[in-house]
Amino acid sequence: MDREFTHDVLILGAGLAGLRAAVEISRRLDGRVDIGIVSKVQLMRAHSVCAEGGTAAVLRTDLGDSRDLHAWDTVKGADFLADQDVVRTFVDAIPTEIYQLDHWGIPWTRDGDGYIAQRPFGGHSYPRATLAADKTGFFEMQTLYDQLQRYRTFTRYDELFITDILVEGGAFAGLVGLDLTSGETVALRGKALLIASGGGGTLYGFTTYSQTVTGDGMAMAWRAGLPLEDMEFLQFHPTGLVPSGILMTEACRGEGGYLRNSLGERFMANYAPKLMELAPRDMVSRAETEEILAGRGFRTPDGQDYLQLDLTHLGADRINTRLPLIREVTIKFLGLDPITTPIPIRPVAHYSMGGIETDIEGRTRVPGIWAAGEAACVSLHGANRLGSNSTAECLVWGAITGGEISAALPGLGGAVPLPAAGIEAAEARVAQMLAREGDENLYALRRELRSTMDAHVGVFRTGDDLETALGRIRELRQRAERAPVRDKSRVYNTNLVHALELANLLDLAEVTVMGALARRESRGAHARRDFPSRDDANWLRHTLAYRSPAGPQLEYKPVTIDTWEPVERKY
Ligand code: FUM
Repeated sequence: MDREFTHDVLILGAGLAGLRAAVEISRRLDGRVDIGIVSKVQLMRAHSVCAEGGTAAVLRTDLGDSRDLHAWDTVKGADFLADQDVVRTFVDAIPTEIYQLDHWGIPWTRDGDGYIAQRPFGGHSYPRATLAADKTGFFEMQTLYDQLQRYRTFTRYDELFITDILVEGGAFAGLVGLDLTSGETVALRGKALLIASGGGGTLYGFTTYSQTVTGDGMAMAWRAGLPLEDMEFLQFHPTGLVPSGILMTEACRGEGGYLRNSLGERFMANYAPKLMELAPRDMVSRAETEEILAGRGFRTPDGQDYLQLDLTHLGADRINTRLPLIREVTIKFLGLDPITTPIPIRPVAHYSMGGIETDIEGRTRVPGIWAAGEAACVSLHGANRLGSNSTAECLVWGAITGGEISAALPGLGGAVPLPAAGIEAAEARVAQMLAREGDENLYALRRELRSTMDAHVGVFRTGDDLETALGRIRELRQRAERAPVRDKSRVYNTNLVHALELANLLDLAEVTVMGALARRESRGAHARRDFPSRDDANWLRHTLAYRSPAGPQLEYKPVTIDTWEPVERKY
């Protein structure tokens, strides 16, 4: 190990949840705390900056919205797999976060009367997606980082790729990673760790995620012995730009955009006649897939299926003021102006409902480790997240875990000495990767993993498809042992980073597919052709996947249902 640093608190991941937690800890402890914020990219390149459409919150009770309704929409959207006490905590906390950001200077879009503007989003009974044009995540990140500057409490570790979370005697004992700028091995000691490193959607080839989002925090937590929860629930967003997968925000439909098939029909009338394009994402993605399978889609010259997102009736003014990023992106990437021409789209991998299991306060099963945001599964989104509830979750559980960690710090004692064996094992793993020989190409393996997930673990699944995927993932894992890291240099060895990321993705893929194979029902985003109905008698329960020498072991735990009994979901 080349260098060692010690802080009170380590935050792994510098997106919305991580920054919100850092601000909360700093202000609760009035600047008397020492935080290390670790990111594998530059801090402001966290994927949260890509969040577009809005942050859900009940602000306009005067217009009839209510927290009860927000809670009900979230529970129903989740296909009843959300823990209802968690949902209640969430809807009660998020309005304060919106006003807090306002006071911290975020440029929320305003309506004509000067109120903070909100727009409709899928599955929400009222317009409650609070927006900063269609760059909401970018402005939230800027505002939080700006706020953090008030405190001299933190050290940034940008471009530090953490390879291992160390657990000793059942408690948090440190982090080990590679400083990408120098190739040095770095160890970080801390009393507490918050994992806020995002989801794992680059398991898929067609995805809205930045290429850097490879589920590292989840995979490391899993290797450290923490269970992953509900990983089979992967959200497909209905409108990924074809062919790149770039997110065409749900706000396009919230602002009044239509989805059309090749007959020019607004096909959602046949699937969700009341909510139409603003049905929840699982339903819209299934409807699009059915339209394509029925031959009512379009096809690009190179054979990619798509449908159309039609904004042409919205007018230039609305598109330019409310959806400027969408226009910029479609012009830059396709030479297509949405003011005059419909946008080619299809369902795209977008969000992990599952993640590191936590309790309602973001605590994991290992003392000293918390998790928040997409890396975590606090059981807010159940089987299907509603759009705009994700940035909201990051803010709420960033604040909650920040508060919890601040309160816990005095009782956590000093940062424990780094466990020598854990560091040696982490270093040996990297050395072994660098020493690998063979004729496999890790980039080809990464592509194969993604095409396997795209083809076999998509919007609709079958037992046969999932078995095929599982077999391929296991084979890819073996082949990865024969995929050399050809770059042996130390500085910015992205080849090595990609090998480490592939290992993480393979772990997550196996857990995802095993959970999906075991769950013999259809619920939310997990739609099995061979088990097309929801089965509350047997499957109204959360999946927990534990690491074992024999592979992932699945266990189950109950869903907290304290207000609403499950009913059929109709929209
Ligand atoms: O469509 C969007 O703007 C995405 C929002 C979300 O995933 O919550």
